[in-house]
Amino acid sequence: MLVDGFGRNVTYLRVSVTERCNFRCQYCMPEKPFSWVPKENLLSFEELFLFVKVAIDEGITKIRITGGEPLLRTDLDKFIAMINNHKSGLDLALTTNGFLLKDAAQKLKNAGLQRVNISLDSLKPDVAGKMAQKDVLAKVQAGIEEALRVGLKVKINMVPIKGINDTEVLDVLEYAKERGMSIRFIEYMENTHAKEKLKGLSGQEVQTIIAQKYHFKEIGRVGPSPAHLFEFDDGYIFGIIDPHKHDFCEDCNRIRLTAEGMLIPCLYFDEAMSIKDAVHNGDVAKAAEVLKEVLRNKPEKNKWSDDDQNETSNRAFYETGG
Ligand code: 5AD
Ligand code: SF4
Repeated sequence: MLVDGFGRNVTYLRVSVTERCNFRCQYCMPEKPFSWVPKENLLSFEELFLFVKVAIDEGITKIRITGGEPLLRTDLDKFIAMINNHKSGLDLALTTNGFLLKDAAQKLKNAGLQRVNISLDSLKPDVAGKMAQKDVLAKVQAGIEEALRVGLKVKINMVPIKGINDTEVLDVLEYAKERGMSIRFIEYMENTHAKEKLKGLSGQEVQTIIAQKYHFKEIGRVGPSPAHLFEFDDGYIFGIIDPHKHDFCEDCNRIRLTAEGMLIPCLYFDEAMSIKDAVHNGDVAKAAEVLKEVLRNKPEKNKWSDDDQNETSNRAFYETGG
C-alpha cells in the first residue's frame, strides 16, 4: 500500500508518454514550446514499464496513459498490452484528443484498454478549430465513433471558455448523452503556458446553463475522483470538475510520471523527482525508493482554490496530461 505524508492512500498513476501534441489548444499549449524534449530523452516503453511494474507491486491499481497526445507515440498499444499482461484487474485508461483514434481504437481495445477520455470542446468545425488552432473536428468525431464501435467506454472532456465555446455546453452534453458517453465539464485551470486572458466558465455557470433545460439532482463527489456528479431524472450522470470551488485534494489518490521520467506528486507544483537513472539501470529497489520519497513530499493541496485568489500554476498541462 502506498500512503503519503497526509495519510492519503495513493492508488492511481498517470503516465505521460510524450509531451508532444498535434493540437495547440488555447488553454494548454497555444504555441509549440521552444524546447521540445529531444526524443532521446524520452524513456522507452521498457523503462516506463519497469517503473509501472514497481508502482503496481507497491499498490497502484489504476493507470491512465496521457500526453501531450499519447497516440503520437508509435506502438502505444504494445505498451498497454505490456501493462495489461502484467496484472489482470487493473483499471487501464487513456486520455486523447481523438485525432488519431480512428485507426488506433481497435488495436488499443485488443491490447486491453478499457476506457478512453476524449477532449471535445465544440461541435462546430470553426469553433473546435479556433480552440485547437487546427481543423480537427471531423477526425475527432470519427475517432469517437470508432472508439464506441470497438466497445471502449468513452468519456468526453469539455473545457468551456468564455467567448469561444461557452454557448455549446448543452450541445456537447446532448451529443455525449445520445451516444451513452459520460461527460465532464472542466473549469479552466490558469497556467502560464496557456493563452493569456482566457476566462473559463465556472462550474456554477455550467450548472445554471444545464438547469435551464434539464432537471437534475446533485450526487456529489464519489470516492477520490475530483468530479462533482449530477444525475438527470432519466438516470444520466454528468460531472463538473471545479478546482476553484471544491478542494478535492483532501483525498487525492494520484501521482504523475512524465515521459522523461519525472515523478510529480501534485499537478499544481513544479516539484518532482527523477526515476530516469533508476529505470535506465534496471534498479527496481531505487525506483521504489524514489516513489516513496515522492509520496512523502506530496503537498497537501493545490492553489487554484478561490481563497488563494486564483493563483496561476507554472506547470505545463501537456507534460502531465492534466
Ligand atoms: N484547464 C483545464 N483542463 C485542461 N486540460 C488541459 N489543459 C487544461 C487547463 N488549463 C484538460 C482538457 C483536456 C485534457 C487532456 O486536459 O480537459 O481534455
Ligand atoms: Fe494537446 Fe490535449 Fe493540450 Fe489540447 S489539451 S494541446 S490536445 S495535450
